[in-house]
Amino acid sequence: MSALTLEQEKVLKAWAARYPAPIMGLVEALRQVQRWHRCVTDEDEEYLARLFDVPRVRIHEVATFFPSFTQKPTGRHRIGICRGLSCSLAGSQSMCSCLEKKLGIKEGASTPDGRFSLETMECLGACEQGPALMVNDELKGAATEESISHLLEELE
Ligand code: FES
Repeated sequence: MSALTLEQEKVLKAWAARYPAPIMGLVEALRQVQRWHRCVTDEDEEYLARLFDVPRVRIHEVATFFPSFTQKPTGRHRIGICRGLSCSLAGSQSMCSCLEKKLGIKEGASTPDGRFSLETMECLGACEQGPALMVNDELKGAATEESISHLLEELE
């Protein structure tokens, strides 16, 4: 049983039908599900396995390979700070601590109102802008205490 609504299932079916091989639409389908549920649940994986006619393990492999997809619900604003080597050398740990303090949560958690979640991520491909900060899949450049304060105000 999927927690998707009938309308959402319709969107996914239409998306899958656009491709000569429906499985080609899997990543976009996962993106949609992540947007709707702020995660990809076991039920979602089961539904997608039926939709794409592949074993569920295949869906799970893709859903766990890309950091954009999560198994636990994220906050409405998903904040990621890179923990890769370049960003670590540029001070990502102290920016993570700054975010933890400002948000009042630990890395890996969400604020009680569900507004923000905070996580560390592998290299975001913006090593020259370390410590790289990402919000809702959008790179925000190098994090500083100031830029974090502005960002959180904007996201209120
Ligand atoms: S190490 Fe942080 S973006 Fe590459």
